[in-house]
Amino acid sequence: MNLIPLLFSALALFTLTVNGQSGPVLYQTYCSACHGAQGQGGAEGAAPPLAKSLWAQGDPDRMIKVVLHGLMGEIEVLGKEYNLVMPPQGAVLSDGQIAAILTHVRSLGNGGEKVSTDRVAAVRAKYEEREAYWKGDELLKDHPLPSPPGPLKNLVRKFYALRKDQRSIPDYAKLEANASARQPNGLINLEGYSEKDHFSLVWEGELNVRREGQFSFTLDSDDLSALYIDDKKVVEVPGLGGMGRAKTGKATLHPGVVKIRVEYLEFTGFTGIAASWAGPGIRGTQSLSSTKVVSKQKPKINLIELKPEGNRAVHYRNFIAGTGNRSFSVGYPGGVNLVFNQENCGLELLWSGRFIDAGPRWKNRGTVRSFPLSGQVYHLQKGSPYPGRTFSFQGMELDDHEYPTFCYSVDGLIVRDRPQPADKGMERILTIESAGVGELVFAPLSRPVPGFSLECRGLVARQDGTFLLPLLKGDNSFTFHYGIL
Ligand code: HEC
Repeated sequence: MNLIPLLFSALALFTLTVNGQSGPVLYQTYCSACHGAQGQGGAEGAAPPLAKSLWAQGDPDRMIKVVLHGLMGEIEVLGKEYNLVMPPQGAVLSDGQIAAILTHVRSLGNGGEKVSTDRVAAVRAKYEEREAYWKGDELLKDHPLPSPPGPLKNLVRKFYALRKDQRSIPDYAKLEANASARQPNGLINLEGYSEKDHFSLVWEGELNVRREGQFSFTLDSDDLSALYIDDKKVVEVPGLGGMGRAKTGKATLHPGVVKIRVEYLEFTGFTGIAASWAGPGIRGTQSLSSTKVVSKQKPKINLIELKPEGNRAVHYRNFIAGTGNRSFSVGYPGGVNLVFNQENCGLELLWSGRFIDAGPRWKNRGTVRSFPLSGQVYHLQKGSPYPGRTFSFQGMELDDHEYPTFCYSVDGLIVRDRPQPADKGMERILTIESAGVGELVFAPLSRPVPGFSLECRGLVARQDGTFLLPLLKGDNSFTFHYGIL
């Protein structure tokens, strides 16, 4: 009997085990000398840590490339800068070995997802010809680091479907959650719910307080919300309304872990929630939500106020808090102002008084939204006023006073939509060109708006607040009066 093949197969078996199963052992052999036995980083900064490193999280290709071809140049890991060189290991290690090592690295506080041998093989094949080390910034261009998790630990989000007439924070003791999910990103967020109506979300988690003292919590929401620390209410945003109504509350806290609970109710229309905290041990303000709180006070410094001049309207085509991305704002002489969304032909906001502060936009291009300068802003519409219809925006005409008429088509009907200042508010004149007899549902409000009246000459609003516009062949004209003054 020939012993050689037996020996070979035993060897093959041994290699296979090392290849496929022993990530920790391989790690100790090939990485720990520099990165530390637990991935805590080399002594005296000789190599950055791998444990809890964003470089080892998210897209696995980033790490695979580092191991295959090495890394040099400036990088930042866990808040510290490095400018060192890691030698390539691609020639020494097989695809399976690299996959096993990186899967082990993933278990060091890096999310734990497996890295597959196929993935390593694919990256190796793609860069077969490459000899150069990777540079940090070169890798980040193709594989940006995942955003670091937010400050809320053990965060759970519960969803409650609500009845349509529920307009206040419900009594949760009487409700059962329809869904509940862990939020590993540690941030309050509306992901998956931003298009829904009539619901509540409740977030429960923990916050780590490092130093004793007074903390302030700021909350903003569309519609209602309330924030509790250790079961005590700290701040609430009452009433139905849009973002931009931020409130701040204070709490004195001791070092340690505190419970945080945020309750949120969305009625209809726009959605939004933002929360932040500030206090001892926190640099500046730290966001507790994926949407940042925008301070309404700030624009007052360096105010760049846009005003209508004489009998001409002023326009502002830019991001405005609480509106869509193709919103067009008009400030009319006499102090009526509006935001029209060209994406869906909806009249989103209406307010009286001063128009807009373009200052934030001037100073921080593209990063901030401007705010209406008056206190009472009516959030009228989210989405299209023509439910279920297909529409396309065609353009805008300006008259001698720079008043726009918005032109668009709704299922083949040509609509000319002209807002203009009128007695105690605004008139909106719709001229609809129809090829024959028909009707069109017009829904100018996404929800009842307190303190606001909307009337149409010759037509009565239906129970749900919509209007049924009767159409004859030719031009049909309807005048709606929006009373706000
Ligand atoms: C000879 C020392 C050395 C060895 C061995 C080594 N590395 Fe590195 N590694 C470094 C250095 C130094 C850097 C930082 C390079 C820079 O500053 O651009 C680094 C960076 C990294 C990074 C990106 C930054 C971070 O900390 O997350 C990863 C991922 C990484 N190494 C993984 C590994 C793995 C996996 C192994 C084993 C297969 C390994 N390294 C072996 C020295 C080493």
